[in-house]
Amino acid sequence: MKILVTGGAGFIGSHTTVELLNSNYEIVMIDNFSNSNKEVLNKIKIITQKDFVFYEGDVQDNILLEKIFSEHNIDVVIHFAGYKAVGESVKQPLKYYENNLYSTIELCQMMEKYKVKKLVFSSSATVYGQPDKLPIKEDSKLMTTNPYGTTKLMIENILKDLAVSDETWSIAILRYFNPIGAHESGLIGENPKDIPNNLMPYIMKVATKELDNLNIFGNDYNTHDGTGVRDYIHVVDLAKGHLKACEKVLKSNGIDAYNLGTGTGYSVLDLVNTFMKVNQVNIPYKIIDRRPGDIASCYADNSYAKEKLNFEATKTIEDMCRDAFNFIKNS
Ligand code: UFG
Repeated sequence: MKILVTGGAGFIGSHTTVELLNSNYEIVMIDNFSNSNKEVLNKIKIITQKDFVFYEGDVQDNILLEKIFSEHNIDVVIHFAGYKAVGESVKQPLKYYENNLYSTIELCQMMEKYKVKKLVFSSSATVYGQPDKLPIKEDSKLMTTNPYGTTKLMIENILKDLAVSDETWSIAILRYFNPIGAHESGLIGENPKDIPNNLMPYIMKVATKELDNLNIFGNDYNTHDGTGVRDYIHVVDLAKGHLKACEKVLKSNGIDAYNLGTGTGYSVLDLVNTFMKVNQVNIPYKIIDRRPGDIASCYADNSYAKEKLNFEATKTIEDMCRDAFNFIKNS
């Protein structure tokens, strides 16, 4: 079984590639390293002791895409490639709309041409915007609060139209909650080049003393300790969810969306305190104003993924904190 992984050198793509190779799938990967590092490719090979085919380039490059589809009999495509920084998307919306939408449209056109109609798409819990009800179910109202989120929702809609137009498509939309952690080998993980926007990468930079202290965005939310609550999921669990989604698209047609989360919410302070305890490091922090656009709480109802994909996350918040720190100490 041959899988094309777009954006496979990124945080979630690399962990998913490891799980796929471990399960004996053949991998063809495309990545332009816009937010990743070439060294990741070797690290994947070291972890798995397996090889894969790699193309350096952009998913929007039609000539390259045609070459890939003509050289390989692809069975399933997992589409990770895309820009993902919320703040940047507010400042440069056109960059986000162009890249995320065009690449997906061109990819789907090529898939159609080569009659490869099985797709797993990286979406995000950001498509729920400000949720009315917790935990969040897949049939909740969809709305977005920033251009990045809007690209995800627009792509979901494009894929739905595609599945309606031709019932031989088989598409799984995966709505990720907050992926953190790293592979237990410590060889791959998340290490943003710039000052991180997300909580765990920021905590890691404070733990290694690259940054002085963490700023906690508000402690006056309606949560158990006043800080924001999120559904953190270990990236290796998330990666395993993609294998389940591949199995699903291989055996059924149509389109469906699945939450990938643990179903449990932890606050910023829960995560910081667990990180300090598990890793025996100090994370100095200051409470500052709320970050505009943030919501108080967001966590998944994961029963649909359990029922339809047979997927359930097993790793704990302690595992996430330990593996994240282990990776950053190694890098
Ligand atoms: N936070 C801080 N300080 C920081 C960074 C974050 O206190 O330096 C807080 C936030 O206020 C929030 C929590 O930590 O309460 C998590 O924030 P993240 O930025 O790590 O994650 P978000 O939930 O805001 O957003 C993430 C991804 C989005 C995705 C969304 C899906 O960044 O791409 O989850 O729910 F869309």
